[in-house]
Amino acid sequence: MNICVIGTGYVGLVTGTCFADFGVNVSCVDKDTSKIDMLKRGEIPIYEPGLKEIVDKNINEGRLTFTTDLSESIKKSLVIFIAVGTPPKEDGSADLSYIEEVARTIAKNLNGYKVIVTKSTVPVGTGKLIESIIEKEQGEDHKFDVVSNPEFLREGSAVEDFMRPNRVVLGARSEQAIAIMKDLYSPLYLIETPFVITDIETSELIKYAFVYKRGRHHL
Ligand SMILES: NC(=O)c1ccc[n+]([C@@H]2O[C@H](COP(=O)([O-])OP(=O)(O)OC[C@H]3O[C@@H](n4cnc5c(N)ncnc54)[C@H](O)[C@@H]3O)[C@@H](O)[C@H]2O)c1
Repeated sequence: MNICVIGTGYVGLVTGTCFADFGVNVSCVDKDTSKIDMLKRGEIPIYEPGLKEIVDKNINEGRLTFTTDLSESIKKSLVIFIAVGTPPKEDGSADLSYIEEVARTIAKNLNGYKVIVTKSTVPVGTGKLIESIIEKEQGEDHKFDVVSNPEFLREGSAVEDFMRPNRVVLGARSEQAIAIMKDLYSPLYLIETPFVITDIETSELIKYAFVYKRGRHHL
């Protein structure tokens, strides 16, 4: 399966690298050319135990690539993860402008059925917002599904948290999208990771409830 991860920050880089290690072909995309150049040279912009070794291994085995070409990555992927930043605005609410920009780019490049997954931490209703942007702006009429799959990794143990999570939360309306997501995460089934399958809004709420309980540094 080909997937892409949009946004190669903390969450995107760990997510993309770990999925490549699960055996999936992953294209990690960022609009920051210097970050992508660095990654192509084998330099990792963040320190996270074990990450460099897995990046190197999966580049060498041909499953992990880094690019700034968002259109091409979208076109060749069945699953598209959105992992761009959602920084707080002055009033404390999340700035969704990066998410909206990515949704518009996905809409323009839809060339067949795709699953669009939000990894970024987003307020309840963002999945619906992404759906409506894509429906409104897509050029051709292709079917797509939106999935909420929040990330709970902690800096300093991010690889371990991704590879051995306490739970995987998947929020979607479509059985097909859930089946594709379960397939992607199949190595975690083997270690009996609990999967919480719910609707999109509940999944978005679960992440916010977690942040509320554990503190804003978990955003
Ligand atoms: N850092 C954490 O520990 C953590 C944990 C769980 C969830 N999250 C959430 O995950 C999301 C990402 O967090 P992060 O820390 O990885 O962010 P980050 O700011 O480190 O990285 C985001 C990346 O997205 C890129 N980007 C923005 N717009 C783009 C576009 N249109 N096309 C391509 N690339 C684009 C930026 O250049 C940047 O490299 C946020 O919503 C955050 O709240 C973070």
